Amino acid sequence: MRNDIDRVVLVGTGAVGCSFAYAMLNQGVAEELVLIDINEARAEGEAMDLNHGIPFAPSPTKIWKGTYADCKEADIVVITAGAPQKPGETRLDLVEKNAMIFKKMIGEIMDSGFDGIFVIASNPVDILTYVTWKFSGLPKERVIGSGTILDTARLRYMLSDYLDVDARNIHAYIMGEHGDTEFPVWSHASIGAQTLEKFMDAHEQYNKKELENIFVNVRDAAYHIIERKGATYYGIGMGLLRLVKAILQNENSILTVAAYLDGEYNHKDVFIGVPAVVNRNGIREIVELNLSTEEQAKMDHSIKVLKETMAPVLD
Ligand code: 2OP
Repeated sequence: MRNDIDRVVLVGTGAVGCSFAYAMLNQGVAEELVLIDINEARAEGEAMDLNHGIPFAPSPTKIWKGTYADCKEADIVVITAGAPQKPGETRLDLVEKNAMIFKKMIGEIMDSGFDGIFVIASNPVDILTYVTWKFSGLPKERVIGSGTILDTARLRYMLSDYLDVDARNIHAYIMGEHGDTEFPVWSHASIGAQTLEKFMDAHEQYNKKELENIFVNVRDAAYHIIERKGATYYGIGMGLLRLVKAILQNENSILTVAAYLDGEYNHKDVFIGVPAVVNRNGIREIVELNLSTEEQAKMDHSIKVLKETMAPVLD
């Protein structure tokens, strides 16, 4: 790692990777962005196209099609590569295919001498983040999955729409697997500094029963989008940018990412979506909320499902 120049390497220049790259260019967060893809022509074409936007960007970013050797000087390697979900498939259905791709890819990245921070977005993200940690040998703080960062954004957006309050003033998290067993943490949801419950009680037009529908729409959002347009990419692209920015700018921001539990929430040896403080060193700490009994049971269940799905692909 060099201290003076921030380099991000993106592995996977499909729609998710390129949405992230485009967001990165538009916000000018790093001096260098290297694109890698098994389809080299695609990576090269994307680099050319993005480069032509540089005169319109807030600051210059040097972008080129690279190789794994470029990871040696990288501060962050973002991985969006892998098979995507098809209509009707769950994220967990992708585990075997993508775990195999990851083991080889992580080995090649580490052979370059990479010693920075991994940010993983490919699905099933919690499991592939674990695979990355295990096969890279990097400390747990430096392996981060996008986890429920997007689900939390979806929840904040949908609550904002329902309650007519700016999404940035809505503090509410989705925790657990980025997938079908995720859950909302209603016990710690607030609008500004007021609890969600109090806020809703103060306005007679709101019905708390609607919260369950909002959550179901959040949980199933990817299915709804994939049915309509085949894939999701803008939301996750911006979520990845948010995470990468929190790292490079040493923000100490609280984001719901897939982090390694070592006793937090009564669990060990699993990566799963939890609120965590993110800075230049990666995960500074996991924020341990006092979950309700029902929420803790959902966390336990989500972890059980992840561990069962993960066990066969860890050798
Ligand atoms: C999403 O939630 C498919 O994981 C992707 O949009």
